[in-house]
Amino acid sequence: MLERIKKLNLLEKARELVRKPVFLIGTGLLFLLLFSAAGYGVWTTQQPPPQPIQFNHSVHVGLGVQCLYCHPGAWRQASAGLPTSGKCWGCHQQMANTKPEQQKLVEYVNSSEPIPWVPVFIQPDFVYFNHRPHIAGGVNCETCHGEISRLTVAEPIAGQNMGWCLDCHRTTAGDDEEKLIRLTDCSTCHR
Ligand code: HEC
Ligand code: HEC
Ligand code: HEC
Ligand code: HEC
Ligand code: HEC
Repeated sequence: MLERIKKLNLLEKARELVRKPVFLIGTGLLFLLLFSAAGYGVWTTQQPPPQPIQFNHSVHVGLGVQCLYCHPGAWRQASAGLPTSGKCWGCHQQMANTKPEQQKLVEYVNSSEPIPWVPVFIQPDFVYFNHRPHIAGGVNCETCHGEISRLTVAEPIAGQNMGWCLDCHRTTAGDDEEKLIRLTDCSTCHR
């Protein structure tokens, strides 16, 4: 009996609390905070991270340099790979390199320090992704990475989650039952 009264009292107190304007404003603020935090999270994940050198994709792709020249892993292995300073130097040693960003490249080459490029497109460790079957299957870089050729440094794209992978895999499989099973099997992407 005493327990019940205590419970009722608590309930009544809770009800009173909910009715209080301070509580309402408080929860309102909390919601606002949570929402703006989530919004900020989305915003920050869509910003390109700072890179050691503001490498300019549009300049280099505009010169006719192929994506695979700098990211040759994409058609033979899981990871596409990022160019070392040696690959940059192949061209830049014949140049004046007077621009500030080119000066940074010269410093990395002279110090033999690797250029610490910051990853942009990244899946969690429990996801298995491999570039090779995608390039072999005729999927363009731009389909997944956006119009890199118009950008300076690469920019992340939101929403590349499990649903994104599965949607394209279902479309790819079409009516091919065997392919559908293979491309949507959990162990295809989680091993
Ligand atoms: C195929 C040859 C080639 C390769 C490889 C190459 N570059 Fe360049 N790069 C050029 C040319 C040509 C220019 C334009 C001439 C100029 O700006 O002086 C240029 C311009 C630049 C610029 C100035 C861009 C601007 O905003 O005007 C930077 C910085 C640069 N390269 C850095 C790099 C880095 C870092 C790498 C390696 C990841 C690299 N380059 C690889 C040929 C190359
Ligand atoms: C089917 C979608 C898809 C296509 C097509 C694709 N990529 Fe990727 N790429 C990804 C995903 C997903 C990641 C993140 C992989 C991870 O974190 O395991 C990634 C990562 C990368 C990275 C950074 C990590 C690494 O693998 O070295 C580079 C560079 C890259 N891609 C370049 C390319 C280029 C160049 C092409 C075209 C030749 C291409 N990608 C085609 C989805 C794709
Ligand atoms: C001259 C060399 C060069 C060429 C050509 C080039 N890239 Fe890159 N790429 C880089 C460098 C250096 C970075 C690291 C800086 C950055 O993230 O932008 C990079 C980063 C990337 C990333 C992000 C990698 C990550 O860390 O997640 C993608 C995706 C990518 N490139 C795709 C492409 C595609 C698609 C093309 C062709 C349209 C291309 N690149 C052409 C040098 C190059
Ligand atoms: C734009 C379309 C597209 C997207 C997005 C995509 N894939 Fe694929 N994926 C393909 C195609 C096409 C193949 C090759 C299918 C075949 O074997 O004919 C493939 C094959 C694969 C394979 C090899 C399957 C095998 O045969 O064993 C793996 C692993 C894979 N994808 C993982 C992923 C993951 C993980 C993601 C998301 C991060 C992803 N894919 C996003 C189109 C896509
Ligand atoms: C085509 C590739 C692909 C297939 C097939 C796939 N997944 Fe995923 N899965 C992903 C990717 C990419 C992520 C990470 C991004 C995300 O969280 O959505 C993920 C994330 C997850 C997560 C973590 C979710 C989270 O919120 O962190 C679980 C659990 C999961 N997958 C289970 C499964 C199960 C069970 C299956 C089979 C029914 C499956 N997956 C099939 C690509 C795949």
